[in-house]
Amino acid sequence: MGGDLRDGRSDAVVGPAYRPLSPDAAPPAPGTVLCQLADIADPGGREFSFGRPPHEFTMFVIRRGSQAFGYVNDCPHARSPLNWLPDKFLDPSRTLIQCATHGARFRIEDGLCIAGPCPGASLLAVPVRVEGGAVVVAPGYGA
Ligand code: FES
Repeated sequence: MGGDLRDGRSDAVVGPAYRPLSPDAAPPAPGTVLCQLADIADPGGREFSFGRPPHEFTMFVIRRGSQAFGYVNDCPHARSPLNWLPDKFLDPSRTLIQCATHGARFRIEDGLCIAGPCPGASLLAVPVRVEGGAVVVAPGYGA
C-alpha cells in the first residue's frame, strides 16, 4: 500500500491485483447456506464472517427484491471494512453500496465503484444464489 490519500485517491490498492484480507482467509465453500433471503431487509444487507482473526473472511450480502449479491467486506480504496454499523452497507437512497470510511459508492449488481475516491475499482464478488428461499454460496469465487 502507500498511495497518496491527500487527493482522495490511492493508486496502490485499486486494480486487478487487489485481493482481500489475509491470503489465508478462506471463503465459505460453495453450497454453504448463509441465511434466508427474508432475513435481509429489502433493500438491505447482512454481514457474515468465517474463521478467526487474523485470518477471518468477512463478506456481506445485499438483497434487492428477489435477488442477492455477495461481496468481500473489504473496500478497494483503503482496504477497510465497508460498514461501521452492523449490516449497514447501503447509502441513504438504498440504491448503492456505500463505504462508511471515505464514502465510496458501488453498484449493487456488480460492485463497480461509481463515486468517491476509487472510481473504476470493484468490490470482490462472492457469488451467491437464492435457492428455495435461502441465500447459498455459489461456485466461482476469485474466478
Ligand atoms: S476505505 Fe476509503 S472509501 Fe472505502
